[in-house]
Amino acid sequence: MDLKSQKVKLNDGHFIPVLGFGTAAPEEVSKSEALEVTKFAIEVGFRHLDCAHVYRNEEQVGQAIRSKIADGTVKREDIFYTSKLWCTFFRPDLVQPALEKSLKDLQLDYVDLYLIHFPVAMKPGEELLPKDENGKMILDSVDLCRTWEALEKCKDAGLTKSIGVSNFNHKQLEKILNKPGLKYKPVCNQVECHPYLNQSKLLDFCKSHDIVLVAYSALGSQRIKGWVNLNHPVLLEDPVLCAIAKKHKQTPALVALRYQIQRGVVVLAKSYNRKRIKENIQVFDFELSPEDMKAIDGINRNIRYSEMLFGVGHPEYPFSEEY
Ligand SMILES: NC(=O)c1ccc[n+]([C@@H]2O[C@H](COP(=O)([O-])OP(=O)(O)OC[C@H]3O[C@@H](n4cnc5c(N)ncnc54)[C@H](OP(=O)(O)O)[C@@H]3O)[C@@H](O)[C@H]2O)c1
Repeated sequence: MDLKSQKVKLNDGHFIPVLGFGTAAPEEVSKSEALEVTKFAIEVGFRHLDCAHVYRNEEQVGQAIRSKIADGTVKREDIFYTSKLWCTFFRPDLVQPALEKSLKDLQLDYVDLYLIHFPVAMKPGEELLPKDENGKMILDSVDLCRTWEALEKCKDAGLTKSIGVSNFNHKQLEKILNKPGLKYKPVCNQVECHPYLNQSKLLDFCKSHDIVLVAYSALGSQRIKGWVNLNHPVLLEDPVLCAIAKKHKQTPALVALRYQIQRGVVVLAKSYNRKRIKENIQVFDFELSPEDMKAIDGINRNIRYSEMLFGVGHPEYPFSEEY
């Protein structure tokens, strides 16, 4: 088997590659970089690309995909592209136009996966982060089940192959799963997940419902000021990860990525550095022992780098629940 194309079957019959390329970058990084690094990621073998409207780079990522199709490197069906519905578009009538806007930016006919990005609705409008005069985020109240029904319609319309959620806790997943008249289950829940927040309870819950857990910030996040609590320790400097990496003659980053794949988690890795992009695809070239896996399980400390504090107080703020 060609491990680089290793995929997992989703509950709707489609397949998702177990390693994905994260495209989010801080605002100061030029958008043309997104084009160049995404092309490079496809060249070295990434087939799963994770993006979102709110990253403001779908135009460049779409251009990269189309250029790699045009030069014969890949076909559209080789690529698994994920986009996400931002929080200002949760009202049901805004969902399909939001996906259509992403497709227009991408210049693609469909996305492979469309996710509800974060379960806290925000005031609709031009602003992606609508704030009041005191700088406080203006939130909105939308029943997530109604948003989900609008996503189901997008799937039926062929605009996305699969639909899922992101940053949902198990109660919010249950709410969707128990919704009367549910047509499609979420195929995945994309959440922060790494050895310091290993999400073992949420993972068990997802597995029991045939929902794939997709790990973001699997390398410990980009530690972007204002978004991440910088008092938390740096994951890739963890002594246990470093010792296991040394033993396998690999890097702590590769150990952190491999850990997820071996526990049945689809993992994203963001890098805008060519050497590290190339390195990350080497995750298929070695294996962790059961003892290594156990040791990594042992360093969990429930550290969440991205607490998305702007949503605290909203009834759907997801991180007040244990899992
Ligand atoms: N659904 C959500 O709410 C959500 C939230 C956050 C992220 N995401 C998605 O998940 C993706 C990944 O998460 P993330 O952006 O938090 O970053 P991450 O994957 O945890 O990566 C963190 C940092 O690690 C560095 N890195 C990459 N490969 C490395 C290696 N081999 N050795 C050492 N350092 C390495 C990268 O810096 P360099 O670029 O300098 O290499 C990167 O900034 C995002 O891009 C986005 O697509 C989704």
